Amino acid sequence: MKKAVIVIPTYNEKESVGAVIEQVFAHTKPLSNWEIHILVVDSNSPDGTQGIVEELMKIYPRLHLLRTNKEGLGRAYVQGFKFAIEKLSPFLLFEMDADLSHNPKDVPKFLQKIEKGADFVIGSRYIKGGSIPSNWGLHRKIFSIGASLFVRLGFMRLSITDWTDGFRAIKVWIVKNSMHHIQNYSGYVFQIALLDFAVQQHARIEEIPVNFIDRKEGVSKINSVQYIGQTIRYVLSHSSFIKFILVGLFGFLVDFSFAYLFINFIHIAKAPANMLSAEVAIVFNFIINNFWSFRHKKIVGGPFAYVGKFLLFNFVSFGSVLIQGGGLALALKLFGDKQIHMLSVFDLQSWILYKVLIIAFIIIPYSYVLYNKVVWKHK
Ligand code: GDD
Ligand code: MN
Repeated sequence: MKKAVIVIPTYNEKESVGAVIEQVFAHTKPLSNWEIHILVVDSNSPDGTQGIVEELMKIYPRLHLLRTNKEGLGRAYVQGFKFAIEKLSPFLLFEMDADLSHNPKDVPKFLQKIEKGADFVIGSRYIKGGSIPSNWGLHRKIFSIGASLFVRLGFMRLSITDWTDGFRAIKVWIVKNSMHHIQNYSGYVFQIALLDFAVQQHARIEEIPVNFIDRKEGVSKINSVQYIGQTIRYVLSHSSFIKFILVGLFGFLVDFSFAYLFINFIHIAKAPANMLSAEVAIVFNFIINNFWSFRHKKIVGGPFAYVGKFLLFNFVSFGSVLIQGGGLALALKLFGDKQIHMLSVFDLQSWILYKVLIIAFIIIPYSYVLYNKVVWKHK
């Protein structure tokens, strides 16, 4: 039998915490291969939440309570995880809200996914079969969907549809490895930080649909303004995709500057000068990508490995040169070489527009995928 601890953070949830506990135990009782524990992490709620849990502990020996100071949702989870790991040595941990927004009936579905080999199961509101409350106002819906889309695009992980909801099952090894990272995030952004870490660790991540039910009692503790700020900051500073784009822009500047330098100061002929400057940009990009954008997959294995990967990187870059040339020739042939009247304000030579589109829709995805799958491939 494997042990799972469902960690439920609470702050002033006296109306619902008892029901959540009873329902979770009721729905998991028939499972023969899982020993289910619940750990309530209460941040000293003044409303008497702890008293309700203490009463239920007399009935349920597998119910536990951890009292903490009120330092945010992320802090509560980190403390709860540490406590659960030390005192109960589980195989699996759960995150779950106490306000009945998460349906206790879904718990066995998470366990089934784990049994089939998943390391991290997300309850997703945004896949088929999942939902956000229909009575949410338009702005709340837009915010929820928008935030999720921002994170998905920022990390270029479109396969993960719900980055923020706190109904999840996570194997203990992931939580243990992530401790040094997640303990820096005390607020709700903790959810994104933990999932991002699991992705970096190449955990097998799967989703099941959940219907998020609006809370009927109590109030939400989320501070939206702070949460939005923290989310944007987290994604900008942790996304290898955004860093990769910045490195690309920098490479463009390096290429131009060196071409200018070679032509005007060293007096090299224009064509070889441009080939040289392109190679300088490639060297810069390779180094910055290795130590910054793809730092979590840094090349290992000494000088030979570097040389090999650098040649591969050149090869990929050469591919994008060919794509640019070929794509441009094709576009000129298909759509013509002309002046395009933009927004009836200014004229643009069509090749510039074609080039921008080719870079945005072909070169960027092409390079990003090949960098990830070939140059900085996970071993
Ligand atoms: N111990 C503790 N300490 N618990 C807390 C704290 C805290 O500082 N802040 C919130 N909680 C508990 C609440 O009591 C509730 O059980 C759960 O955390 C979720 O908090 P809500 O206040 O209900 O937030 P929500 O419904 O807006 O948040 C949902 O969406 C977030 C973002 O999408 C949850 O699913 C979150 O997990 C999710 O991050
Ligand atoms: Mn809630």
